[in-house]
Amino acid sequence: MDNFFIAKKPFVTKENSTIVKFLNKRLGLKFGYHIQPLPDPQRDMNNIEQRINYFHLLDGVITNKIAGDIVELGSFTGQCAMIFQKVIQLHGSDKKLHLYDSFETKFKIDGSVEEVLNSHFREAGLDLPVIHKGYFQATIPVQLPEKISFVHIDCGFGGDVLMHKELMLYCLKSVYPRMSKGAVCILMDYYVLGVNNLSDYNPGVKLAADEFLSGLPEKIISLYANQYSHAYFRKLN
Ligand SMILES: C[S@@+](CC[C@H](N)C(=O)[O-])C[C@H]1O[C@@H](n2cnc3c(N)ncnc32)[C@H](O)[C@@H]1O
Repeated sequence: MDNFFIAKKPFVTKENSTIVKFLNKRLGLKFGYHIQPLPDPQRDMNNIEQRINYFHLLDGVITNKIAGDIVELGSFTGQCAMIFQKVIQLHGSDKKLHLYDSFETKFKIDGSVEEVLNSHFREAGLDLPVIHKGYFQATIPVQLPEKISFVHIDCGFGGDVLMHKELMLYCLKSVYPRMSKGAVCILMDYYVLGVNNLSDYNPGVKLAADEFLSGLPEKIISLYANQYSHAYFRKLN
């Protein structure tokens, strides 16, 4: 993957101010600290560590020829989805990227969410994904591909924890039976105290995933993601 998707636009990367650059240069060695801007959770839908994790997990799925298409539940303007499509194209894979979202937003953006997503893809020279617009309760599982090799669930809205837990359970129950052996499911916002640095943005994710997997052979693996948090499991059978 080229560095374009790690630390440069279209991912929002705040530039360090002149004073911070000065401090980093002059005082960093002396005190052993390096100041970096925090990601903005309203604009930055993932961070550098997560992009690296996405790359390696999807790269492994495609390299190991796991059967099925790529799915994202909760795509917003496509910051994560662009990485998935980039990896698909790097491999020259014929896997299709399916994105599911209501494409409604409370945030102010220029144009509709769907238009912004498509323009992000076009500007990055990526093939357009297959869009499934609507609430998950209407689009999944009916519109899911028959086989899934990789799925990213990212439907956090920072609202009621138990409502979000129920939505997560609905998503997991919908995708799990279609995941091939060896398929990967990534759970955005799965938070384990001590593994990640800042807040637990959507506690419903861990509540739902732990409950869902409690009777199943798959184990959840928490990934380091600095100020953000996520985890994954790999389908065993
Ligand atoms: C945190 S954003 C996803 C960020 C995205 N992965 C990205 O890379 O930009 C969560 C998304 O989930 C969607 N969402 C939440 N609940 C939903 C539901 N019940 N049906 C469809 N979409 C839903 C929201 O519309 C929102 O775009």
